[in-house]
Amino acid sequence: MIETLQDLASLRARVAHWKREGLRVALVPTMGNLHAGHFSLVELARRHADRVVASVFVNPTQFGPNEDFARYPRTPEADAEGLGAAGCDVLWMPSVEVMYPYGAEAAVSVRVPGVTATLEGAHRPGHFDGVATVVSRLLLQVQPDVAVFGRKDYQQLAVIRYMVRDLAFPVELVAAPTFRAEDGLALSSRNQYLSADERARAPGIHRVLQSMRAAVQAGTALAEVEAAASDALEAEGFRVDYAVIRTPDLQVPVEGGSGGRVALVAARLGGTRLIDNVEFDA
Ligand code: PAJ
Repeated sequence: MIETLQDLASLRARVAHWKREGLRVALVPTMGNLHAGHFSLVELARRHADRVVASVFVNPTQFGPNEDFARYPRTPEADAEGLGAAGCDVLWMPSVEVMYPYGAEAAVSVRVPGVTATLEGAHRPGHFDGVATVVSRLLLQVQPDVAVFGRKDYQQLAVIRYMVRDLAFPVELVAAPTFRAEDGLALSSRNQYLSADERARAPGIHRVLQSMRAAVQAGTALAEVEAAASDALEAEGFRVDYAVIRTPDLQVPVEGGSGGRVALVAARLGGTRLIDNVEFDA
């Protein structure tokens, strides 16, 4: 059975013991309510390290005032069981008091400029400050050699990459592919909020992302690709926050240019906000 740790001294002792044995340690940060996408991160972590720590912490500082912090699903028993089965060694489950000993309001926080100004950052003010703050705390608590993040949260990964580089965190980042249901829908804790009808329509996001890729690769003007994607999603019943083409570091690409590209969509179905992306070369 997996070992669950909730105080920093025990966590530090466990990791220090592994490091004295020369073992490589990976961290997989999560907010719990784990699904196959999260477990695929643990499996990837196993391939990069000898021991895997997963953290489960629903981080209050990354939720906006009108977001779902209080009703974010908490399923600790199922999470512990699934993590054990996926090959995780330790579950790090700090309380809010352990994570923010002086209170979340008084917390020292990490703000990543630039890449946080657009897309999710623009639609969720303060969100990435909360993410950067908690991820830096998790990295300092666990002190892993490797940390694994999903490509599904593309901008989050970009924010963390920049933070790790700029603060010179001694950690290697590993980016995990997006884990999808057979019909293309990216797995997400939020999918459980979808009605049966909404669930049937939700893979529309992935289909539209693929047609964005095809259109860019066929040389269609970017503004035209983005407008067509928004129209297609709205016609399928989504309310679109954005449907855009960006470079890998989330800049607006030069028209007709080549190189790495990512199509990103955020859209709501009923009360549920879904995000997804597809990376490709133009
Ligand atoms: P959470 O939404 O629980 O996601 C934890 C990790 O799982 C993230 O790296 C996310 O990108 C990855 N993930 C989620 N769904 C995935 C899927 N379908 N395929 C591949 N990876 C997937 O992201 C967070 O938590 C938080 O912001 C966190 C980084 C833990 C900071 O609080």
